[in-house]
Amino acid sequence: MILITGAAGYIGSHYALNFSEFGLDDIVIFDNLSTGHIDTIEKLQKINPKIQFIKGDLKNKDEISSVFKKFKIDSVIHFAALSQVGESVINPSLYYLNNVVGSINLLNSMVENNVLKIVFSSTAATYGEPKYTPIDENHPQNPINPYGNTKLMIEKIMDDYDKAYNLKSIRLRYFNVIGADEKTRIGEWHDPETHLVPNILKSVFNNSKEFKIFGDDYDTKDGTCIRDYVDVLDLADAHRLALEYLNKYNKTDVFNLGTQEGQSVKEIFNISQEIINQKVNFKVVEKRLGDPKILLANSSKAKEILNWQPKRTTFDSIKNAFKWEKVLNKN
Ligand SMILES: NC(=O)c1ccc[n+]([C@@H]2O[C@H](COP(=O)([O-])OP(=O)(O)OC[C@H]3O[C@@H](n4cnc5c(N)ncnc54)[C@H](O)[C@@H]3O)[C@@H](O)[C@H]2O)c1
Repeated sequence: MILITGAAGYIGSHYALNFSEFGLDDIVIFDNLSTGHIDTIEKLQKINPKIQFIKGDLKNKDEISSVFKKFKIDSVIHFAALSQVGESVINPSLYYLNNVVGSINLLNSMVENNVLKIVFSSTAATYGEPKYTPIDENHPQNPINPYGNTKLMIEKIMDDYDKAYNLKSIRLRYFNVIGADEKTRIGEWHDPETHLVPNILKSVFNNSKEFKIFGDDYDTKDGTCIRDYVDVLDLADAHRLALEYLNKYNKTDVFNLGTQEGQSVKEIFNISQEIINQKVNFKVVEKRLGDPKILLANSSKAKEILNWQPKRTTFDSIKNAFKWEKVLNKN
């Protein structure tokens, strides 16, 4: 049985769905519903009635420990975290407690119960300002905000736990995640939403909103920042492959997950406008501090070693995300 933390949230729920659809259905989900949704869990359980759900908080050692006593867990996929960069700058204490202490409680419970395999959601934010592009896994890690710091700390803790306790981890460093289930059963559901694509799509239901584009005089093709957008369903595939790899080779490793095909902010606006068939209001404002002009993943390692290949185009991802926004907006 696998334990998935944080699967009431965006990326974890798509992974739970993907895992179920591959007939791998022995899953227990642990989530405190702080940013995730019980509706998402109920939908997942409808699709796969064998999914068990435990409402609990990683900050509480007893709550997470008891899951390992109750179920026979073989491995863990760890999505649960707080992940808003701005909030982490204003309230770092919340982030260190939730992400770092929460992960330590999880890892300690694993070691105590001899569960020694984990796949972890890390992030491109651990790299900080890019020194070169595309960014590979050997790029220096110098996060520029508390959120990125928490993720880097957890990676380092995992290294030490490997040496001391033989706990093997695969860290997947995601770039910008977009998209939704093709059948529109689940999708991205953050409140507040801080990500560009869902916010543009939401403007269909609230057209008074004016978007800010932070700088259009970067040294890029159209002057706006370039980012690497990867589909949430492709990400789910990568997690399944990472777990297979971990089960087969029992080795700690790290992989970037992105497409290496950057899109500028203006391009994302143009694709979105085409999909929603509507103009979106935006104005160009001052650049933000610490916003690199270009962030691209070199994901060749994941392609070579995990045999992972992102399949969805940005157009398809945004189309699926828009179908989902329509569902969300009906609720
Ligand atoms: N969305 C992105 O673009 C992106 C990019 C890079 C990395 N990540 C990482 O991927 C993971 C998932 O991101 P997401 O966008 O799905 O976030 P999300 O907020 O939708 O999901 C996170 C889930 O974790 C749960 N959770 C948080 N703290 C918890 C705790 N202490 N105990 C139990 N459950 C807890 C929340 O309730 C939620 O269901 C996070 O670790 C995030 O840092 C996300």
